[in-house]
Amino acid sequence: MPPIANWSYPTAIRFGAGRIKELPGACAAAGIKRPLLVTDRGLAGLPITQQTLDIMERAGLGRVVFADVDPNPNEKNLSAGIAAFEAGGHDGVIAFGGGSGLDLGKLIALMADQIVPVWELEDIGDWWTRADAGGIKPIVAVPTTAGTGSEVGRAGVLTNSESEVKKIIFHPKILPAQVICDPELTVGMPRAITAGTGMDAFAHCLEAYCSPFYHPMSQGIALEGMRLVKANLLRAYKNGGDLEARAEMMSAAAMGAVAFQKGLGAIHAISHPVGAMYHTHHGTTNAVVMLPVLRFNRPAIEEPIERAAAYMGIIGGFDGFCDFVAGLNAALGIPKNLTELGVTAPDIDRLAGMAIEDPSAGGNPVALNLDNIKTLIALCL
Ligand SMILES: NC(=O)c1ccc[n+]([C@@H]2O[C@H](COP(=O)([O-])OP(=O)(O)OC[C@H]3O[C@@H](n4cnc5c(N)ncnc54)[C@H](O)[C@@H]3O)[C@@H](O)[C@H]2O)c1
Ligand SMILES: [Fe+2]
Repeated sequence: MPPIANWSYPTAIRFGAGRIKELPGACAAAGIKRPLLVTDRGLAGLPITQQTLDIMERAGLGRVVFADVDPNPNEKNLSAGIAAFEAGGHDGVIAFGGGSGLDLGKLIALMADQIVPVWELEDIGDWWTRADAGGIKPIVAVPTTAGTGSEVGRAGVLTNSESEVKKIIFHPKILPAQVICDPELTVGMPRAITAGTGMDAFAHCLEAYCSPFYHPMSQGIALEGMRLVKANLLRAYKNGGDLEARAEMMSAAAMGAVAFQKGLGAIHAISHPVGAMYHTHHGTTNAVVMLPVLRFNRPAIEEPIERAAAYMGIIGGFDGFCDFVAGLNAALGIPKNLTELGVTAPDIDRLAGMAIEDPSAGGNPVALNLDNIKTLIALCL
């Protein structure tokens, strides 16, 4: 039996198969009467989205959808979304989708009523205090992938389409007020997306677990998150209809996002510029660079990774853990290196410059500088 539960941590979460039908209740609890459902183009035409719009319509919430959202969404998508929000007289957002739809929905809710430009709300120090918190609209989040954990996060990733830089936009009030985690919504994910998003969840847990900052709560969540991915990702990949595995992956995804309050690291620092420049899938890119980053960080993480391996039932300590990652990537059909994603050697310098500027770089257990990150990226090609 797939699990069913109501959680209040880190926000109100209705977890369980079929619970999308509780969307009207979630909107009411968030104080939303005229929602704009934000999703991406691909999802807009799928039955899960149409059924969700039907549920909204039957409850008198209308069925207005904004789907002009690219994978790795950008500021143009955001402007168009804000215009749709204003034109429709909406009072809140249903952020529906993978990370792309969730993040853009959250950012529309953040920016619909602000004077400050979105780039000035990057996740740096207390920049978020520049926003007028009172103007932020309520958000109900409904994930349809199991990876980013954006449904329980306080950030949205936005690509600057001119500079090709991915920026993390942060405000504590974009943590969705209500979340519906319904694993049935993830059943139709294409296999490659199941694989890539699942490895994003794993990367969040792994990088949070390895980051040097003091945060034992996140440490514990990250460890169990990694175990859940080990036990369930391949099951979900092989049999998309396995609702128990889908549910456990949804938990792992949410856990990854809670855990990475502790920090991320070089996997994300490299993956962000690669995604922005080559338009690759975020989680898949993380999976591609994971092994070289693990080996690069070995001097700083050997002991904690040995403990993680023991907890996860992996034999062989650090080397066994690396073998597990290599085997999982291979079984999931993850590309072998960044070359297969289209990255070429002449771009290393630019990628390295962007990676070192990425906020995730500061959480890497081995201190990063321009020289060693160039070497590391070269090892990923
Ligand atoms: N906010 C955060 O904390 C956070 C964390 C990690 C990543 N991200 C961001 O999230 C984005 C990636 O999100 P993602 O990996 O979930 O991918 P995505 O949202 O880009 O979706 C990938 C593809 O899968 C399709 N899809 C999604 N759910 C589906 C379903 N149930 N059935 C069929 N097709 C489905 C989408 O239409 C899309 O084509 C990136 O922009 C990344 O930077 C955000
Ligand atoms: Fe990620």
